[in-house]
Amino acid sequence: MEKRKNGFASGIGFILAAAGSAVGLGNLWGFPYKTSQNGGAAFVLIYIACVLLIGFFTMISEIYIGKRAQANTVSAYKAVNKKVGWFGLVAVIIPAFIICYYSILGGWTVKFTVNSFAGNAGILPTFSVNTWEVILFTGLFLLISAAIIMGGVEKGIEKMSKILMPMLFLIIVGIAIYSLTLGTGVNEGLAFFLKPDFSTITPKAILTAMGQAFYSLSLGMGIMVSYGSYTGKEISITKSCAMICIFDTLVALLAGLAIFPAVAHFNPELLGSSQGVALMFIILPEVFESLGLIGKIVSFAFFFMVSIAAITSVVSLLEVVTQFIIQKYKFNRKFAALIVIAICFLVSIPIGISLGHVAILEESGPAFFGLDGLTFFDSVTNTVLMPVCALFACFSVGWILKPEKAVKEIEEGGNPLPNWFKKVFPIMIKFITPALILVVEIGGLYSEITNGNYAVIVFAFGLVLLGFVIYTLFLKDSNTGTNADEKLSEEYIEN
Ligand code: PHE
Repeated sequence: MEKRKNGFASGIGFILAAAGSAVGLGNLWGFPYKTSQNGGAAFVLIYIACVLLIGFFTMISEIYIGKRAQANTVSAYKAVNKKVGWFGLVAVIIPAFIICYYSILGGWTVKFTVNSFAGNAGILPTFSVNTWEVILFTGLFLLISAAIIMGGVEKGIEKMSKILMPMLFLIIVGIAIYSLTLGTGVNEGLAFFLKPDFSTITPKAILTAMGQAFYSLSLGMGIMVSYGSYTGKEISITKSCAMICIFDTLVALLAGLAIFPAVAHFNPELLGSSQGVALMFIILPEVFESLGLIGKIVSFAFFFMVSIAAITSVVSLLEVVTQFIIQKYKFNRKFAALIVIAICFLVSIPIGISLGHVAILEESGPAFFGLDGLTFFDSVTNTVLMPVCALFACFSVGWILKPEKAVKEIEEGGNPLPNWFKKVFPIMIKFITPALILVVEIGGLYSEITNGNYAVIVFAFGLVLLGFVIYTLFLKDSNTGTNADEKLSEEYIEN
């Protein structure tokens, strides 16, 4: 068997790292508030269908593209076909932008963790507009994440995931149990979350569920390609993907079990309301505050868990960019990670300021084409670009490499696939999954257009064009490196 030059030491390490990327603010914050805004249990069922029909197969494609190439995303797509190497560059650019806004929210969660004992109720409006503090916590958050990346894939990312993910899981289970024992309101909360009423479902709810599935599973950018590249032949892609999808969905459901009974108990009028940002950063802190010392402890546990989730997600975003820089420019890992966080930190500053002003106080801070920085970059990446990149992955596997070849390669290393999968996979990856993704993309574009956010669309497709041009000019005919190029690999080659 070919020796892997560096990467995950174990299958479970890989699964936990990928699950660490997937489980994030999207599960703990986004999923509950989107469920609340879109009708409750029926939305949850549609979401689960999206994970099965779109998420699972896209994830298989992305991990497979990475695994077969054992290289960064640009080289990985180049290995699919030299003409489509630019897909890989677009998949590096998207995470870079996500880091910039995600780290601010990550900084907020760290602040809320630290502040738990002093009390978080009511601090958001003052904290989020306190520029220096926001910058400080964003920087702190980025430094913690970068420190993990600097340790390398096995000793940094894998080790951290093996400790933090089980911890996160225990905390969310604990909080859900606590929530379920609150008494009055619990049944109403559970009914809202678990008893479907399909009359509440609108086309917008379906699109939201689809988009949420991508985002929550960290698909439609380089992450699964990059993490997949660090796996060895012995790892079963399909089983790993099934476990990652299950884990991610389970955490989202647990977040719902933790939040809805609590909301119904403390603020029943908010069930099904349109509260977004407020749910996690305003309402929950108020709930915690009303509980005295227990509330402080639960608050600490809760925000500590959310911080963990955010860190393991940003780590994966950083890894995509860092991996490419290391391998293309032969930089040392620590140096590459520092450059990436330094640039992202600078970009995050205006976003952080605008987010604090526009989202919370509705005063004007620096704006991005009329939107606050979070909304702008979130729309650029999630609404417009992630589906595009997911299409790239499906197209690469379904139409360039061909599913038959993919099935054969996925089976290599002693990972036989069940017959039903061999039959279903080609149809899904060629037709059904891409068609559904296209619906998400068109729906997203339509909503941006009807909201007059043309700048989002222009900016997003500008980035795709930029990726294409840079690739064609500078990367297509040059060596873009592989995992084997990383210096740290020496010890692996020995074993
Ligand atoms: N999947 C993460 C979440 O649910 C977010 C994320 C998206 C992380 C894209 C990395 C890449 O919050």
